[in-house]
Amino acid sequence: MTSTSPAVTSAPWYSEAAGFFGPRFLAEYASFMTSEITDRQVRCVTKLLGRVSARDILDLGCGNGRHARGLSGEGFHVIGLDLNRSMLEPHPPERGPDRLTADWVQADMRRLPFGQSFDGIVSLFTSFGLFENDDDDHLVIQQVSGSLRAGGMFILDVMNRDFVLEHFQEEETFSGDDASVCTHRRSFDPVTGHFTHGRTRVSAQGKTERWTSVVRLYTFDELRDRLSESGLTIMESYGGYEFQPISPTEPRMILAAETQS
Ligand SMILES: C[S@@+](CC[C@H](N)C(=O)[O-])C[C@H]1O[C@@H](n2cnc3c(N)ncnc32)[C@H](O)[C@@H]1O
Repeated sequence: MTSTSPAVTSAPWYSEAAGFFGPRFLAEYASFMTSEITDRQVRCVTKLLGRVSARDILDLGCGNGRHARGLSGEGFHVIGLDLNRSMLEPHPPERGPDRLTADWVQADMRRLPFGQSFDGIVSLFTSFGLFENDDDDHLVIQQVSGSLRAGGMFILDVMNRDFVLEHFQEEETFSGDDASVCTHRRSFDPVTGHFTHGRTRVSAQGKTERWTSVVRLYTFDELRDRLSESGLTIMESYGGYEFQPISPTEPRMILAAETQS
């Protein structure tokens, strides 16, 4: 017998009600989020933050807190913020001598409740560009700027649009060990810059599930201009966590921008 997942929800794709962020995201991206990869990312961010002698850090869209915990281990005081409770839930609230931890806040990055509290704000592994319209992304940058102390740093790590388009695959199908079949369908709208990635998974029992992510892929120039409008100047930019230059062969775009001191 074949069944289909529940009716399409009107919840925005990035809210846990839509079913993407939460256990499904953590399972799908587990191989991109190993402790080895996370450690490399934390080392890179720590080095960049060294420019501004940072102490208080906000991890925006912290997910399961892998970077927040790593940065806490480097001696920063870290707050991890995420919209979705199911991403934050695994974190034990208590602090202990044997446990490196951070503080966790459930909030929307478009409305940051902190004031000018941070020396550094990080947005890692595509936690930016998640909204339907660019105005909301700009709002996030304004909120970031307003939450940084003078001379503070914003580290933005997003997908490199040139790389995505250069390696674009419209459709791929994978078979799981459990005999499920997952089909990925991708499209890119060059007018809006939105990259849509839909997945359809059919289990061995014939149950069909669907989930989709929609990410705005910005060019370097677009981000530089948006950051600049909010008083943030890009001081360093890289194509990966080993400080490679940005190029169509590098999957990431990592920008370190500073407010005026
Ligand atoms: C691609 S994940 C990256 C998570 C984490 N930075 C990492 O590297 O593992 C993006 C995160 O942004 C969170 N998110 C989505 N919309 C958000 C919003 N409006 N405000 C705050 N967090 C949001 C999601 O729940 C998710 O944890």
